[in-house]
Amino acid sequence: MTPGREPLPPWAGRRVVLGVCGGIAAYKSVQVARDLTLRGATVDVVLTDAARRFVAPMSFEGVTGHGPLIDIFAVGDAALHVSLGREADCVCVAPATADFIARAASGRASDLLTTVLVATDAPVVIAPAMNDRMFAHPRTRASLAVLEEDLRYRRVGPAEGRLAAGEGSGPGRMVEPATIVDAVGRALGDGGPLAGSRVLVTAAGTREPVDPVRYLGNRSSGKMGYALARAAWLRGAEVTLVSGPSTVPVPYGVEMVRVETALEMCDAVLERVGGVDVAVHAAAVADYRPRVPRTEKVKRGVAGDALTVDLVANPDIAAASAARMKAGSVAVGFALETSELLTRARRKLDAKGFDLIVANRAGEKGAGFEIDTNRVTIIVRGEQPRELPVMDKFAVACEILDVVEERLA
Ligand code: CTP
Repeated sequence: MTPGREPLPPWAGRRVVLGVCGGIAAYKSVQVARDLTLRGATVDVVLTDAARRFVAPMSFEGVTGHGPLIDIFAVGDAALHVSLGREADCVCVAPATADFIARAASGRASDLLTTVLVATDAPVVIAPAMNDRMFAHPRTRASLAVLEEDLRYRRVGPAEGRLAAGEGSGPGRMVEPATIVDAVGRALGDGGPLAGSRVLVTAAGTREPVDPVRYLGNRSSGKMGYALARAAWLRGAEVTLVSGPSTVPVPYGVEMVRVETALEMCDAVLERVGGVDVAVHAAAVADYRPRVPRTEKVKRGVAGDALTVDLVANPDIAAASAARMKAGSVAVGFALETSELLTRARRKLDAKGFDLIVANRAGEKGAGFEIDTNRVTIIVRGEQPRELPVMDKFAVACEILDVVEERLA
């Protein structure tokens, strides 16, 4: 199975109506349907008449396993719009065209898709896609404002970028399928155990400047921390990600605070940690920094054959956070060890005031830095360690959050 695509909450076992309108971006909706299906959702695709001019119904059947629905007047399915609307856990419209948005805003029920919208209580995710002039038009803006007054509606995008051939670029482009899938996940996970809670995640390694061009750092990519931030947001939390330099895409919906050094990370975390319900310390914080970074580049000709850099200890961010966290909150730590994994992880659990610690072994196959999978053992204070197999980092994040949710409850 493709990593990151296995059935997982919040999508698994849920029912999503995917409405597709007639726009160039409709070709990307096949990917949305496929990814929702791979994550375990049952996807009922509803095409508008215009959508069929852009993408063939068979494409959706190929990825969801059943044919899309088009005709509100199909014989034998008189109450289809009602049953689709009633059974849906979420309705997603992607692409949502200017015409669709206008019809939805005025409460029209002029085709199967708009009729489903009028017949559902489920949250509705709309991903607008149109020419930038159409998106900027006062009628479109007014219609969107009407939809956004309704708390069940969430808009995702449009993004800025190149529009259809022959047009320039501007806001109007549909966001990428992965973002739409996450927006649907958030709508599905909103009533979940993390709904309304504040989660802070640290991620990636810090960089400690030696001189203006060099730094001391480590191999942490940030993948585990970013997966945790994404998973927490999908479960309804308000998430802040305090990250050292990383090339991992920023998860949709997450507040991003970029830092470089351990001292900057420490300030950013201590400023916020008093207000959170969950703090996850996934960052690989450099334990030492050069005492005084040079202001000029170190020259080999001057330094000679050996160079000594005077290092001084950085603050322990996790330990400093423990004292500031509110009662009932949960602190999660990580321990990366080369030997005596469980003993050392337990020691860190106690020393840093964590409620649980995620232990993994450096250099183990399928685990650790820069890769998409991890193999961890979760240790909760006073409980037997839970050893997990090699899993995709997002799946590991879900396991960790399951334990966090138990603790919060
Ligand atoms: N951590 C932190 N601040 C630091 C060092 C570590 O917040 N200055 C956090 C990490 O984010 C992680 C946990 O503490 O959640 C353990 O990190 P690790 O580097 O394994 O432990 P150290 O305290 O550095 O201990 P050691 O160097 O002895 O392994």
